[in-house]
Order: sequence, then structure tokens, then C-alpha cells
Amino acid sequence: MTYNDTFIRACKKLETDRVPVWYMRQAGRYDPDYRKIKEKYSLLEICRQPELAAEVTLMPVRKLGVDAAILYSDIMNPVASLGVDFDIVKNVGPVIENPLRCEADIDRLKPIDVEGDLGHILETISILDKELDVPLITFAGAPFTIASYLIEGRPSKSYHRTKELMYSQPRVWEKLMDKLGDMVITYLRAHVRSGGKAFQLFDSWVGSLAPRDFEQYVLPTISRIFSELSDLDVPKIYFPGVSSGELLPGLKSLRADVIGLDWRVSLSEGRRRTGGGFAVQGNLDPYLLTAPMEVLKQRAKDIIDEGIQEPGFIFNLGHGLFPEASLDTLRELTEYVHEYSEQVLKAASSEQSRS
Ligand code: CP3
Repeated sequence: MTYNDTFIRACKKLETDRVPVWYMRQAGRYDPDYRKIKEKYSLLEICRQPELAAEVTLMPVRKLGVDAAILYSDIMNPVASLGVDFDIVKNVGPVIENPLRCEADIDRLKPIDVEGDLGHILETISILDKELDVPLITFAGAPFTIASYLIEGRPSKSYHRTKELMYSQPRVWEKLMDKLGDMVITYLRAHVRSGGKAFQLFDSWVGSLAPRDFEQYVLPTISRIFSELSDLDVPKIYFPGVSSGELLPGLKSLRADVIGLDWRVSLSEGRRRTGGGFAVQGNLDPYLLTAPMEVLKQRAKDIIDEGIQEPGFIFNLGHGLFPEASLDTLRELTEYVHEYSEQVLKAASSEQSRS
């Protein structure tokens, strides 16, 4: 079994034979075998069984032929170790019975104890480290996105209470960002120690902020996370979530390797706004997976043609897969990205050797 390091090479902006591809939320309900497992166990129950969680992580790798695995878990899992009770409710998402509402609630958050409380996640990573022939991406939710669940108590469209705390009690907000920043740093460091080969920080909802507020209230913690983890020799990805195009100029000096882009900003514009130093990952609108195959392939081709202009491109969606996507469509798309990009790269390298 040869190890496929195309994804890692692309993160480091090294040459590759083809464009690597993986999908955010690639383990999920679009897969009938996953749905069968979900009839028996909840998401959190799967996560507590390392063999099963490893198997669910492996399923899309085998079925789709993607170039990276992403750990089956959820961004909420580490908050259990801070002493926050939550559930993942079907068709809703994370729900917290006692949302954080005041300084005392934030003071009560305990420091994370990864080995003590989340050993099952580290064990899943160790199992996968032995079984995979592609890199394992582990992940954490970024402080703003996690805070939005902790404060709202459930998924929100307005982030009303989150912003209320942020604007009206900046010192308390800072305390929360510090605690969640510490959580992320300790958690991701443990992942890498257990065999994680790259990590992604998901800031799914931070695009709801104006750039100056992002830079004032959130970015210092994001910068601290990547700086404190900069000694780890694994690619580091920041995904600023949906509608984050206007935040990109603020990321120029972040010590990450890759920036994930949503579909509202083109890859070249994303590169330009972030200063040209990062590899980019993205950015197909996930709902194109419901379009006719020729429309989907045309859009994928446009993205590849643009991404391939510079070293450091990973094909992905601009946000997570949704349950209505089809396994066959994803398989065909993955094959198309591989075949088409290989063709283009081969033609470019023979052109180069001739001139
Ligand atoms: O990508 C993967 O395949 C790995 C697993 C993964 C899950 N959640 C499992 C999951 C990852 C990377 C996540 C990250 C996550 N979780 C994010 C960031 C990514 C994003 O989509 O922006 C967020 C915001 C969450 C919080 C969360 N968890 C929500 C909003 C929901 C509900 C979504 C829904 O469609 O019901 C969840 C539940 C969840 N986490 C599911 C999965 C596979 C779906 C429900 C299930 O299968 O049990």
C-alpha cells in the first residue's frame, strides 16, 4: 500500500501530479451505510466507540477515492470537557440546555482535559493512523463559532446574544475567547501527538461579523492559536466559513498554511486578498451537486483551471456536504477532478520541458 501524500504536498505548495480533493462533511447522511449506522447510534455514541468512529471516517475514503480523511467527530465534542452539557439534535444541530449568559457562567468553564475526558477521540485517531493510506485531517471549532453555540444554546441565524455579549461586555467576551483559544490549542496538539497529519480550524459562522469587528474581537485569538501551534510540523488550515470574503484581507499574517474559501469569492481573488502566501482550498457551491452532471463538471473545471494557476490548491466544497447529495455524483466528481487536473498538469510539464 503506497501512502498518498498529494494533499500534504498541495498544502505545502509543492508540485503534485494531480489536484487533491476531499469534502467537508464527507462522512454523512448522503451515504446509505452511514444512515444505517445512525439508525442504531447517535453521533455522540459513534464518537465514543473508537473502532466505529474510525470505520465511519474510513467509509468515504474508500467509497469516494478522496485524498484525505477527516476525523468523524463534531466541533462540540471538546466542550464536554469544559463542563458544558450539550446534545446534537437530529435536523437541528448542537443544543445546550444551560447556555452561557453571564460572566459567572464563563468563569465556571474548566480547562480542557483531553486525555482524561476525550481519550476516545485520541484512540480513534491512533487507530486511523495505522489504517489510513491518506492523511488524516483532525479539526476543532474556532472560538467565535463555538461561542455562538454556547451562548445562543442552539443554531442561530442572527447571533443576536453572541454579538450582544461581544459588544456590551468586551472584557467578558475576551475571557471567553481566551478560554476557548486555550481549549483549541490543547485539543489540536493532542490530535497531532496521536497521529493527526493536518488540522482544520472551522470558523463556520464568523462571516456574520463586519471586518473591523472580526479583527478586534476574534482575530487576536485565531492568530494566537496558529502562532502557538506553529511548532507542529503538520499543515494547518483556517476555514473562515460562509460569507467570509470581506474578512480575508485580515488574514495575511496568520501562521496557517491553507485558507478555505466559500464559493462567493473566486480562488484567485481569495489568493489576492490573503496576500498570496497561502495554499487555497475550495470552493464549489455544495448545491451544485444537485445540478445536471455537465453543469457540475463545467463549474468544477472552472475552479480547477483557476486553482491550478499557482501551486497550493486543494479541491473541496465551499461548505459542508448536505444529506441530499448522492454518492454516485460525488464519486464521479472526485474522478473528474483527478483525471482532468492530471491531464492539465501533465500538459503543462511537457510544455515546460520543451521550452
Ligand atoms: O466532515 C466530516 O465528515 C467529519 C465530521 C464532522 C461533523 N461535524 C459530524 C456531524 C465535522 C467536520 C463537523 C464540523 C461541524 N459541526 C461544524 C463545522 C462545519 C460546518 O458545517 O460549518 C459545525 C458548524 C458543526 C455543528 C453541527 N453539528 C451542526 C450545525 C449540525 C447539524 C447539521 C445537520 O445537518 O443536521 C451538526 C451535526 C452533525 N455533525 C452531523 C454530522 C455528520 C449531521 C447529523 C448526523 O449525522 O448525526
